[in-house]
Amino acid sequence: MMRRVRILSVVGARPQFVKLAPIAAAVTAAGHEHVIVHTGQHYDPELSDVFFSGLGIPRPDEQLHPVFPDGHGVVDGRSGSGSGHGVQTGAMLAALDPILAKYAPDRVLVYGDTNSTIAGALSAVKLHLPLAHLEAGLRSFNRRMPEEHNRVLTDHAADLLLAPTAQAVEHLEREGLGERTVLVGDVMVDACIRARDLAAGSLEAPAPGVDPARPYLVATIHRAENTDDRARLASIIDALAGLPVPVALLAHPRLRARAAEHGIELDRGSLHAGAPMPYARMVAALSRSAGVVTDSGGLQKEAYILARPCTTVRTETEWPETLKDGWNVLAEPAAADFSRIATRPGPARPPGRPFGDGETATRVVSELERAARSR
Ligand code: UD1
Repeated sequence: MMRRVRILSVVGARPQFVKLAPIAAAVTAAGHEHVIVHTGQHYDPELSDVFFSGLGIPRPDEQLHPVFPDGHGVVDGRSGSGSGHGVQTGAMLAALDPILAKYAPDRVLVYGDTNSTIAGALSAVKLHLPLAHLEAGLRSFNRRMPEEHNRVLTDHAADLLLAPTAQAVEHLEREGLGERTVLVGDVMVDACIRARDLAAGSLEAPAPGVDPARPYLVATIHRAENTDDRARLASIIDALAGLPVPVALLAHPRLRARAAEHGIELDRGSLHAGAPMPYARMVAALSRSAGVVTDSGGLQKEAYILARPCTTVRTETEWPETLKDGWNVLAEPAAADFSRIATRPGPARPPGRPFGDGETATRVVSELERAARSR
C-alpha cells in the first residue's frame, strides 16, 4: 500500500486560498496528510476568513502572526507590506522556520507569486525540505513587479515545478529547469468551475447601487504599479468613472488606503465602490457581467473561463493565452479608445481551453505522491 505522504501548504494571500481549496480536497480524497499554514499576510476577514469558510477549506493548522522588529507598518497590531517587502517577507520567513521544522513534511507546497510564496520557499530550502511550486513558470518579464521576483526565485529554488500552461513549461525549459517541470494545468479552473456551478441562479448586486439585472462591468485594481503612484491611480479611476455603463469596483484594502492617501474619490460617475467579494459570489457577479476591467491575474483567467470580455490595466500579462481572439485586451486608461475597449462585446469565437480541464488538483497530488516516493 502507498505510504501516506505529508504535504504542507504555505498560503497567505487571497488568490492562494482559492488555489488551496481544490488542492485540500484532492489531498484528503487521496488519503494523504495535509498541514495548512497561513502566513498572516492577508488578515482582513474579507480577504481571508470568508475564503476558508466559503470554499470549505479546513481551518489552518498553523496561523502565523508575523511581528515586525521595528513595529513600522503594523496595521491594527498586524502586519502589511506598507513597511516594505523585505520586512514583510523576512517576518514571515522567521515565523515559518520553526513551523516547517516541527512538521518536517515530505513536500512543502507553495502557491503563485506573493511574498508568502517566497517566504515559504526560502524556509523550505534552508531546512532541506523538498519544495514544490504550484503555478510555476509564469513570467511577465517586468522586473519592477514584486510578483516577478517572487516567481523567478521560487522556481529556481523548487525541486518540483507544477506548470499551468504549455507556455509556462517553455519558460522553465529556457531557464534550464525543464527536468523538474510537469505540466499539470491550472488549478484555478477547478475552483472556478466548481464556484460557477454552486452560484448559478443567484442575482445579487455586485456593489451598492448597481442593478444586477442591467448591464454592468466588474472592476478590481490593487497592484502596486497601479495604486502607489498618485497620477497613475487617478488616471485609472477617472477612466473607470467615465465609462458609459455602471462599474462595480470591488475595492481591495490596498486600493482604499492609497486612494484615501492620495485624496482620490472612488465612488463617482459610473463607479460604485463595494467590498471585495467571497469567491463564489464574485464568480456569480462575473458570469452575469458585461465584462471585466482588472489588473489581477486571477480575474483575467476567470473572465476567460466564464467567457466574459476582459480589459487588463497593465502593459503585459502572465496569461498571454487569454489575449487570443481578443477575449482579453491590455489597455492604458489614458488612451482615447479606453472606453470603447472596456465596453466591447465578447468575440465571436468561444474561448479555448489552454488552462486544462478542471482536474488539475488530482494531478498535482499524484505528482507530489510520485515525487515523495522517488526520494
Ligand atoms: C498581494 C500580492 C499580490 C496579490 C494580492 C491579492 C505580494 C507582493 N502581492 O498584494 O500578488 O495579487 O495579494 O490580493 O505578495 N492590507 C489590509 N488588509 C489585508 C491585507 C493587506 O489592509 O488583509 C493592506 C495593508 O495596508 C498592506 C496593503 O494592503 O500594506 C498591501 O497588502 P499586501 O499583502 O502587502 O499586498 P497586496 O496588495 O494584497
